[in-house]
Amino acid sequence: MTTNEFLGKENFTIQNKTVSESCPSNIALIKYWGKYKDQIPANPSISFTLNHCKTNTEMEFFANEPFSVQTFLSGNEEVKFAEKIEKYFKNIEQYLPWILKGKYVIKTENTFPHSSGIASSASGFGAIAKCLMTLDEEFSGKTSEDESLRKASFLARLGSGSACRSLYNGLVVWGKSDEVEGSSDLFAVKYSDDEIHPVFKDFNDWVLLIHEGVKSVSSTVGHGLMNTNPYAERRFQEARENFVPMKEILKSGNMEEFIKLVEHEALTLHAMMMMSDPAFILMKTGTLEVINKIWDFRKETNLPLFFTLDAGANVHLLFPNDGSEEQIKSFIETELLQHTQKNGVVKDVTKF
Ligand code: PMV
Repeated sequence: MTTNEFLGKENFTIQNKTVSESCPSNIALIKYWGKYKDQIPANPSISFTLNHCKTNTEMEFFANEPFSVQTFLSGNEEVKFAEKIEKYFKNIEQYLPWILKGKYVIKTENTFPHSSGIASSASGFGAIAKCLMTLDEEFSGKTSEDESLRKASFLARLGSGSACRSLYNGLVVWGKSDEVEGSSDLFAVKYSDDEIHPVFKDFNDWVLLIHEGVKSVSSTVGHGLMNTNPYAERRFQEARENFVPMKEILKSGNMEEFIKLVEHEALTLHAMMMMSDPAFILMKTGTLEVINKIWDFRKETNLPLFFTLDAGANVHLLFPNDGSEEQIKSFIETELLQHTQKNGVVKDVTKF
């Protein structure tokens, strides 16, 4: 499928150029799980963009050399990643017609631990898409900042779906939803700041590293298994419907309902994995222990500590900076940290 709005300009002038860009990771509240051809999501999703977990990327372009890509992660050459990027660049040529007319050396670094299991594909593809748009402006002429960001989000999506949400800060929606004006399957949009209660504008996301290392089933395989999952259609419908209460909650600041919805989304994601054929489970014993302790803690204290999960065993601990955070932080340190592999926790926030 070609998308005319984003087709590249045929007039361009290339030259050697080095650009650097940085892009944060994001954590979904309503989850994207299942997709159609060309990275079209089966349902809309909404996420918080994080402030500290980022990928910093330097892209060197050598004009008029035979097309090739070399990639380095924290100084180490990554051949497999380079192959993936080469394929990706070939796939997006119609949107950036100069892209195959040179050689690339791409150096990336993540500000979060490599083995942490935190998805670096969102921040990684976000940063690459931003570098490409900076080069595009250099070679094909300036566009407005809005247009450039939107196209960067469009290009990031073609690299890794959820990456398209990382181009904007705060709360970000990807996928067509009747509840969100301007939303699209092709790129992400920022959720209007005016529609967000202040309590959601300063939130903690502490990632407990329950299991460090490679996951048993990749996201690509997981998305694919939704094609034959008999519960998939119902799930896609539910995610669409969940935008109705989510919109109300974000406006009113109803924390109790927010917690219920966000935890339900996380558990549904993992339930879909268990109902796939073949079934798979990415949660570990520690994941379940932490979830149960969070529920007990909430029952006892009524404090707003809750969780979400991405496609892995790690637990994202969510809690607002509303005055209750010191008590929550000390509970995490004394009760939850023991369920991680190496006392691993990545402390991030989303503040906007
Ligand atoms: O963008 P992908 O293909 O890595 O898929 C991400 C899927 C989840 O993290 C589980 C959910 C989401 O919406 O980010």
